[in-house]
Amino acid sequence: MSHRSPHPTSSPSSNWRWPSRISGLPYGGDYNPEQWPEATREEDIELMTGAGVNLVSVGIFSWAMLEPREGEYDWGWLDETMDRLAAAGISAALATATASPPPWLTHRYPEILPQTADGTVLWPGARQAYSVANPVFREYALRMTRAVAQRYADHPALALWHVDNELGCHNGHDYSDDAAAAFRTWLARRYGTAEALNAAWGTAFWSQRYSSFEEILPPRTAPMFVNPTQQLDFHRYSSDELLDYYRQMKNILREATPQIPVTTNFMCTTRSKNMDYFAWAEEMDVIATDHYTVAEDPDRHIELAFSADLTRGVARGRPWMLMEHSTSAVNWQPRNHTKSPAEMLRDSLGHVARGADAVMFFQWRQSASGAEKYHSAMVPHAGPDTDVYRTAVRLGEALRQLRPVQGSQVQSEVALLFDYEAWWGAELDSHPTNELSYPEEVLHFYRSLWKAGVTTDVVHPSHDLSGYRAVIVPVLYLVRQKDAERIAQAAENGAQVLVSFFSGIVDENDAVHLGGYPGAFRRMLGIRTEEFWPLQRGEQLLLDDGGRADLWSEKVHCADSGAGAAEVLARFAELRMADGSSQMPPSLAPTGQFPLEGSPAITRNTVGKGAAWYAATRLDEPSLDALVRQVLIEAGVPPVHQDAPEGVDVVRRRHPDGASYLFVLNHTPQPVTLKASGSELLSGTRVTGRLEVASGEVAVVEER
Ligand code: GLA
Repeated sequence: MSHRSPHPTSSPSSNWRWPSRISGLPYGGDYNPEQWPEATREEDIELMTGAGVNLVSVGIFSWAMLEPREGEYDWGWLDETMDRLAAAGISAALATATASPPPWLTHRYPEILPQTADGTVLWPGARQAYSVANPVFREYALRMTRAVAQRYADHPALALWHVDNELGCHNGHDYSDDAAAAFRTWLARRYGTAEALNAAWGTAFWSQRYSSFEEILPPRTAPMFVNPTQQLDFHRYSSDELLDYYRQMKNILREATPQIPVTTNFMCTTRSKNMDYFAWAEEMDVIATDHYTVAEDPDRHIELAFSADLTRGVARGRPWMLMEHSTSAVNWQPRNHTKSPAEMLRDSLGHVARGADAVMFFQWRQSASGAEKYHSAMVPHAGPDTDVYRTAVRLGEALRQLRPVQGSQVQSEVALLFDYEAWWGAELDSHPTNELSYPEEVLHFYRSLWKAGVTTDVVHPSHDLSGYRAVIVPVLYLVRQKDAERIAQAAENGAQVLVSFFSGIVDENDAVHLGGYPGAFRRMLGIRTEEFWPLQRGEQLLLDDGGRADLWSEKVHCADSGAGAAEVLARFAELRMADGSSQMPPSLAPTGQFPLEGSPAITRNTVGKGAAWYAATRLDEPSLDALVRQVLIEAGVPPVHQDAPEGVDVVRRRHPDGASYLFVLNHTPQPVTLKASGSELLSGTRVTGRLEVASGEVAVVEER
């Protein structure tokens, strides 16, 4: 039986290559000249030059324009665009044009359309209506890729290849017959025999035993819960299948232009679950990501920081490209928010603070027609005499001033472990509670770290943890044995490891580590959980240290399973209704007795030179803030800047030769004054001991 790990080594891929044809920090956006007449296209170049744009993503959705009929190509407008860009010294991230198949293709071959779990066909008329498992689609998409590669291989504007677009964004899970066949092939490669698959999937349950791979289907809509390991493997297969499609396109591009880096735009955010970007990173020359803040989230700057830290983790600490974000409103949220110029600059420079060496937008010019006409752009409907365009000009200047920062790396002593497989596993159905959201729990911990003023690396459990003083492990439900050992080793070596409830529960097949939860971490934590005790909605736990919690509790014993027994830091004291009413919590009915009263809620176990902490419940924000600060104190991790009040985000980037840059983003309503010396790059002023940053503003000090 071969269990291929998508994360074979803890060392990064050696492919990494920056698009070095672009001088300075790449700046620009998606450019769709095919939507505009000649006069506008001429003005575009003028305005791009005015804003300091040096890179645009071209041709992403242009298949039907480039190949209007099968085998007939119309390169005219793209030739002209590439030539104009080159003449103006602007580079192109040239797309494979495959992100939306042309109507003639889906009309002739409707079998290329993807299907949902209940068999609904995703029809053309929008975008990304294709199944990568369909051989006809693959053939046509690869042919288009080859045609673009051959035509522009030697073009001086070409700096980077942009494969497709946000692969898997709308068609990440396809349940069609072609997908079923590809899933079977994937399973046969993973398991070798049906017996091995039966063992891994636990098919002794509910008469699910397979006698051959032919009998297996994707987890289509079924009368009841579908086998969880089948669902988990379908997540893995779907991510791998899309990656395989990317790899085929990359190989074509690599052959045509060995010197030009190849990438695709990831969606490294808490909203994109389908692709395992840690595994995908191995195939990229440079990591690029798209990020959109969500208007209704008052903490959207913290979610942005998390997404940027996740992207840097995926990039193994190396500089990465922000391939898309928005100058202002987006069109796809229920109520779209207009950004102030200051918010636009903060968002952009917030990414740079966390390792982005490129800032790009969707899109250059706001479309007059189509589904995205109310999505902001660098040039809005109202034209260049607008705050939006003026802010784009300011940002272009800012990025030129930040040029010395390029290539420097972010400093961090704290790792937060993030794993797409744990996400897939934790949110499977028929669990102790269906109210647990993996990204929400991860963000809950991240927010406390952010408020404590430390910089966090968001990394995969298979990555090297040796440099970290604190390792945070939220809801790492599924964990491989060797990763669990590496985490325990980090504690042995001196790290403070903080583990949350519902971590270390199952192996890679979603089979429970027996003998008491959390099986994979029991020894390190010095505890043994007998039973989970999830709460009903509206219920609240009080802890004997004054802490509050909800969602989850469990019956924990401090137990020595080889590395000592944990000490108890806080115990469950009471269960009541969160609204303060005297109603008996449903969990305590009918007697009112609380069986967990007095049992451990937060524990700590000394492990070698470090320690392993456990939170057996979901602490509310103030309680988690306090716990995280305690862990950071024990780990000896101070905030990046001692003077920064909560809400002032301070991050340091450093060149290996020693030059360092202090980014200060003031997200509070008050001005802030911090100790700093050097030169403030955005204003070009000297800072001698005191740096003042107004509310909503950003400063970047080259420290001396
Ligand atoms: C994604 C896509 C773009 C555009 C934007 C809108 O990031 O890649 O084509 O649709 O969303 O926010």
